[in-house]
Amino acid sequence: MEKIFRSETVSRLRHLAGSFVTDPLEAARLVPEGLASYFEHAVDYDVDKLWEARLHQWLDAPWPCPERRIGQELWDTVAEELHDCGFAFGRHTYGQYSDADAALGRALWCTVLHTRPTVAVETGVARGITSRIVLEALERNGEGHLWSVDLPHPFERDLRAQTGIAVPAHRRSRWSYIEGSSRRRLPGLLRELGRVDMFVHDSLHTARNTRFEMKCVGQVLHPGGMMFVDDISTHQGFADWTRSAPQARALICPSADGEGLFGIVRMQPTGHPVKAT
Ligand SMILES: C[S@@+](CC[C@H](N)C(=O)[O-])C[C@H]1O[C@@H](n2cnc3c(N)ncnc32)[C@H](O)[C@@H]1O
Repeated sequence: MEKIFRSETVSRLRHLAGSFVTDPLEAARLVPEGLASYFEHAVDYDVDKLWEARLHQWLDAPWPCPERRIGQELWDTVAEELHDCGFAFGRHTYGQYSDADAALGRALWCTVLHTRPTVAVETGVARGITSRIVLEALERNGEGHLWSVDLPHPFERDLRAQTGIAVPAHRRSRWSYIEGSSRRRLPGLLRELGRVDMFVHDSLHTARNTRFEMKCVGQVLHPGGMMFVDDISTHQGFADWTRSAPQARALICPSADGEGLFGIVRMQPTGHPVKAT
């Protein structure tokens, strides 16, 4: 345990030191994140094993859903494409980060198809699995746009070069990639957009950063709008924000590999019963 803690600390310090060399301004923003992360604690969430059926209930969509299989096949195809190009794929294969898991991929696929968002925003691109899935679904809808805020790896050139590699050129017309940390770029983007229908948090998974992004997006999330927040079990950020938002209904979902959790939030349209599940 102590060894894991030490290697995590060493990796964070290395990341911070490398960041100061390549981008001192963004690195300075990482310092409070690093300090705050020492006060993080894991949360013992009540996982909803029937989350996918529950999600479809929220979406007013049929269950079993025929799109579930298609979403899974799309995730499998993306994994295969990356594998064929020689990239490692999965947990902790993008520096300390991971490619999005199949369960989150299916949830995004079904949600975009069933809710037809006009304005989708995400943070954290890496190789672009979530971006690709959302963009494929928007393309099928024939409407909507995705804005992705992403701070690429500060010093590993080969990882930087892999940014968004899962999104082919013919799927980029509905996509705006915005480089920089969410702390620097998200507030301005949200001011410009004025409203968001769907949000995916998959950037820096600290309590402080997760709360920050959820708070910013919560202010402009359309009633009935959805948030997807990856990797919620290692810190209290998701729990803190949902407690503070009476209009938010939350689902706690297991990742397909059973190693992590992601959360889904739906902003209740006004007039709906608050917090009922
Ligand atoms: C977990 S990965 C994203 C996985 C991706 N969504 C996928 O589908 O595979 C996290 C990404 O967020 C980027 N990142 C880290 N800190 C960030 C920050 N403060 N703001 C925005 N992006 C950040 C990382 O460099 C990395 O590209």
